[in-house]
Amino acid sequence: MEISIQPDAAAAAEFVARLIQQEVQSRPRLVLGLATGRTMEPVYAQLIRMHRSEGLDFSACRTFNLDEYVGLPGTDPNSYRHYMEAHLFQAVNINPANTRVPDGTAENLASECADYEDRIQAVGGIDFQLLGIGLSGHIGFNEPSSPFASRTRVVTLAPATREQNSPLFRDPGQMPRQAITMGMGTILESRQCVLLATGGDKAAILAAAVEGPLNTMVPASVLQLHPNCVIVVDEAAARGLNRPGPAPRVRRKDQFADSLVKSGIASTTST
Ligand code: F6R
Repeated sequence: MEISIQPDAAAAAEFVARLIQQEVQSRPRLVLGLATGRTMEPVYAQLIRMHRSEGLDFSACRTFNLDEYVGLPGTDPNSYRHYMEAHLFQAVNINPANTRVPDGTAENLASECADYEDRIQAVGGIDFQLLGIGLSGHIGFNEPSSPFASRTRVVTLAPATREQNSPLFRDPGQMPRQAITMGMGTILESRQCVLLATGGDKAAILAAAVEGPLNTMVPASVLQLHPNCVIVVDEAAARGLNRPGPAPRVRRKDQFADSLVKSGIASTTST
């Protein structure tokens, strides 16, 4: 894992948006895995700004969201489809047909999950996966004890996640208890992933994920197995880390390694 500590949440979000910008510019048909949540809002605001003022072109991009609540239609303001439309899709030139969010209202949820996996495979897999981390340690909605090899499926949300997200519902009691999420195995197969965490409330769980042992009770710790993962944090979220360390060296010589160096995450590349 490479770790980049930025001074504050705004800088961390801009940093992640720049990484995405570089990927979209160098690979216009990028397959982008997307996350929702409060942490991502400033990232999407930056991408919209880059689209408007720097001509960032999403017209050929394909996107797959990590998760969706079971039972909420895309028109529901608390659904993740609605979030994506409001925070990114409608403000940039992405082709709506190229945006995928699991359908939490599908009659057959198991086949919706299997189809989602098939669609990801059909486009050749996810090139760049954006991730947040929940207070439960989840990535997507892979809650504690999710198998590291899990695929897209229906899950029951952890109490910590219900506590974290129910205030976003007008009636907190209306928050669904289940969701569809991409699996940990699905996430691990992405070619590169970037996890963004900001704010002091994430410090303890982030440290457990990054410096603790691999543990299904801290699902984000699975990212220690990902060959190409960058953790971007602000100083508040980095507070629990013991070993932020010097700028790491990247050993691989490819486009992502180059962009890490350009962005200052890594100090040098070598083959
Ligand atoms: C949502 C998702 C979740 C969030 C996490 C953090 O699509 O993937 O894992 O990233 O719950 O949410 P915030 O940013 O609201 O703290």
